[in-house]
Amino acid sequence: MGIRNINVRLPRASVAYDIQIGGRLEDVGRSVRQWAAKAKRAAVVSNETVFPLYGERVVKSLQEQGFDVSDHIVHDGESVKNLREAERLTAAFSAAGISRTDCVVALGGGVVGDLAGFTAAIHLRGVPLIQAPTTLLAMIDSSVGGKTGVNSRHGKNLIGAFHQPRGVFIDPSTLRTLEPRELTAGFCEAIKHGAVSGARLLRRTAAFLQHHPAREGFEADADANELIAEHVRFKARVVRADEQESAENTGAMSRKILNFGHTLAHALEKVTNYRRFKHGEAVGHGIRFATYLSNSLDLLSDDDVELLNDVVRRAGRLPGLAGIDRERVLHAFSSDKKNVGGSLQFVLLNGIGRPILIDRRDIPDELIVAAYERLLD
Ligand SMILES: NC(=O)c1ccc[n+]([C@@H]2O[C@H](COP(=O)([O-])OP(=O)(O)OC[C@H]3O[C@@H](n4cnc5c(N)ncnc54)[C@H](O)[C@@H]3O)[C@@H](O)[C@H]2O)c1
Ligand SMILES: [Zn+2]
Repeated sequence: MGIRNINVRLPRASVAYDIQIGGRLEDVGRSVRQWAAKAKRAAVVSNETVFPLYGERVVKSLQEQGFDVSDHIVHDGESVKNLREAERLTAAFSAAGISRTDCVVALGGGVVGDLAGFTAAIHLRGVPLIQAPTTLLAMIDSSVGGKTGVNSRHGKNLIGAFHQPRGVFIDPSTLRTLEPRELTAGFCEAIKHGAVSGARLLRRTAAFLQHHPAREGFEADADANELIAEHVRFKARVVRADEQESAENTGAMSRKILNFGHTLAHALEKVTNYRRFKHGEAVGHGIRFATYLSNSLDLLSDDDVELLNDVVRRAGRLPGLAGIDRERVLHAFSSDKKNVGGSLQFVLLNGIGRPILIDRRDIPDELIVAAYERLLD
């Protein structure tokens, strides 16, 4: 099972980093040594679920490379993504002597990655960051691209910084301990990548799910490494084209296309107080919604709708929509933070792999209602 290496080179001078896929966490130290050659200390940030599973081997591997290691364990859950926790962490980094040339290693899912990444961005105005993602979502999405941040009481991810990592170390065997629902959630984001990138990645993801049903847990074989690598390549390509999600960039490689399926997802999460759905599960519904909407605008064929529905089904069972007030969901669209200048842009599909941005005001209300109703069938 070969290790895959993907290099992310950004147009901004001198920013390039490697994403290594297929290595084992026992060996993470060697890569960190390469990526942060001058570091004497490493601050490992993880949570109370992931650290007991993988912390020891990471710490040992870093120590073998001569790092003086401190660990910083946060509670499990989205609620740690806040400014107070970032402040507490940066104080802990100071106490552990983390200087500008030392490094922070984020070991965990997207929550740990975003929080540790943001703290690495603000500690001493920026210290080297290494991401070691342990959820599928974090591997194919959040660890790549340099977006870091925390939530505020006004909404999710409203405070943050772009802080590109020095390197990303992906050990897919860690997915074996992931809960099936988290796997489903990650696969929904993978399907999103496929839908906006093209038939090849979508079919590849579908084929993988057929041979490795998400409900049976994750098999970290060569096939899995290659699938993750393909998704990382795609995300890296989008990030390269639009590093900081500029408002003007609305083209086919704008970072905004990654919001496919997300308008409805954010609304569903909001009206259920972030309790009923894992984010990726809400994205699963959102993908189907955007697909139906594209279909009713004559942009997407019935066959492609069927294909996308079928892949989402294979990703696993999504919590249902029963009992959710449709009007509240539709109303929640208007407060989506992806509003640009007061208007909401839907990412729709003009065919698989051909995302387009359409202003909410250009879509008749009846079509939006009808697309939502089709979700309930
Ligand atoms: N920065 C970005 O570009 C970006 C992109 C997408 C999402 N995000 C953020 O990512 C977060 C969601 O990330 P997530 O889906 O990874 O959730 P998460 O970090 O909460 O992880 C999900 C659950 O799995 C557990 N876990 C993690 N790895 C495990 C493993 N190997 N074995 C067993 N359990 C494990 C975690 O403790 C947690 O309970 C959100 O906060 C979202 O805003 C950021
Ligand atoms: Zn998402």
